[in-house]
Amino acid sequence: MSLAERAEGDPAATIAARELSKAFGGVQALRSASFAARRGEVHALVGENGAGKSTLIKILGGRLHADSGNVLLDGNAVRLGGPADAARRGIGTVFQELTLLPWMSVAENLLIGREPRSALGLIRRNALAGEAEAVLAGLGIHHIDPRALASEVSLAERQIVEVARVIVRQPRILLLDEPTSSLVEREVEWLFARIRELRARGTAIVFTSHRWNEITSVADRITIFRNGAEVGTFDAIDEDEAVTLMTGRRVEALYPPLPPVPSPAAPALQLEEAGVGDGGTVSLSVAAGEILGVGGLAGQGHRELFLGLFGAPPLARATIRIGGEPIVITCPADAIHAGLGIALVPEDRKTEGLLLPLSVRTNLTLPILAQLSRLGVIRGGAEARMSREIIDSLGIRTPNAAQPVGALSGGNQQKVLIGRWLLAQSRILLLYDVTRGVDIATKHEVYELMMRLARQGRAILFYSSDTEELTHLCHRVLVLSRGRIVAEFAPPALTAEAVVAAAIREPHAA
Ligand SMILES: Nc1ncnc2c1ncn2[C@@H]1O[C@H](COP(=O)(O)OP(=O)(O)OP(=O)(O)O)[C@@H](O)[C@H]1O
Ligand SMILES: [Mg+2]
Repeated sequence: MSLAERAEGDPAATIAARELSKAFGGVQALRSASFAARRGEVHALVGENGAGKSTLIKILGGRLHADSGNVLLDGNAVRLGGPADAARRGIGTVFQELTLLPWMSVAENLLIGREPRSALGLIRRNALAGEAEAVLAGLGIHHIDPRALASEVSLAERQIVEVARVIVRQPRILLLDEPTSSLVEREVEWLFARIRELRARGTAIVFTSHRWNEITSVADRITIFRNGAEVGTFDAIDEDEAVTLMTGRRVEALYPPLPPVPSPAAPALQLEEAGVGDGGTVSLSVAAGEILGVGGLAGQGHRELFLGLFGAPPLARATIRIGGEPIVITCPADAIHAGLGIALVPEDRKTEGLLLPLSVRTNLTLPILAQLSRLGVIRGGAEARMSREIIDSLGIRTPNAAQPVGALSGGNQQKVLIGRWLLAQSRILLLYDVTRGVDIATKHEVYELMMRLARQGRAILFYSSDTEELTHLCHRVLVLSRGRIVAEFAPPALTAEAVVAAAIREPHAA
């Protein structure tokens, strides 16, 4: 590994942060942090959840002002008046939280501020979609309908439109905060191809990610953040070393060994002929102590299946058995009563899953409030103790349990969602992309936890947009395509290549 010179003094830097500090109330998000990116490089910014990456990007992108320190553009200190001012100076930013306006079309979002106009300066509404289609096609995107409302397209598609909107403006400096967290492999490849093109044209690209294989495949240099400041910038560094610098501790092998499934297998959850998507049906069975993976490309019915099992909303038609007994699930209360728990990373944290204005403690204990209350009075002591335990064991970075969840960093919000199912003690867990946006050390903890839960005899149905995760953490993996199971793999045939190949194979005509 080689430590580059101290960032702030990098004479080749096109954008730099010099000793930036930023506090939110009592939380010091940046502590005299420095960073520098050069023309024609891809620079990865890595660190644990809450390390300050998004805060730095927001300041460099003009969305936040630092309490002290400077942003330097080509060596000169600048005061950015906002994202629009930053854009005028050539800085394009894709923030971690999506910013498309849901009630506007993809085309309107994409071309906002640069719509086709008539000689009189009026927006040519009817030309908008065609123009957007051409812009998207120019970037190699053919599957997104520019006429659809932003709220109607999938999360991955929205993310792609966010990126497209910034790169069509050809920024000199491109800041991408976790652009891949909702993308699957093929879409990540698309993004990286665009990043490489921009690099060849001399653009400075800064991106954050929690997926190490992505970082090493595209980054020229890596800056590690810890606790609000840079630890160092490296031309090359191996993962173990990087994780140690990020966390201050060593992480053993990322994937823990799978415990054996008790035999004979006792079916915990059986699903027969569940209607998923347009005309698809899914049958599956998960045994107690088994981790069953469901893989495949995004948008093939996974989300519908997981939410459907939890009754939110219920599956179109299905026979569901729990412990061999047939059961009807029409709403989440039925599912919880039957011993089902669901942890799902919300597509949009603002509308799903978390109650952002409420405290970390309340968000954690939401599903077990009934258990915690006696004669309608919540036992505050028990609630506080249980939430404290989860905050400690998952390392949730929050000043205290009373902090509103909305003030936590993205990854820490996720940990609150994961913490919920720990407390809920469900027999059957539906885990839907739970590690999306979670840092490596925490991922490792979540994996350990999954193994512990399996060893205790719980049945786990697991979807992940990260195929590596599926192949390492599951006893079996089913591949879902257009609402149907198209393949099933178990070791030794269970490999990432096999799962991806099955997922992209054209389905046979029905
Ligand atoms: N608006 C806010 N109000 C209060 N605290 C905040 C706010 N924004 C960020 N913080 C806190 O500042 C710290 C740094 O957050 P930041 O979002 O920069 O982390 P991050 O490195 O991007 O993490 P992640 O990988 O989870 O996205 C965190 O402890 C976070 O809780
Ligand atoms: Mg962040």
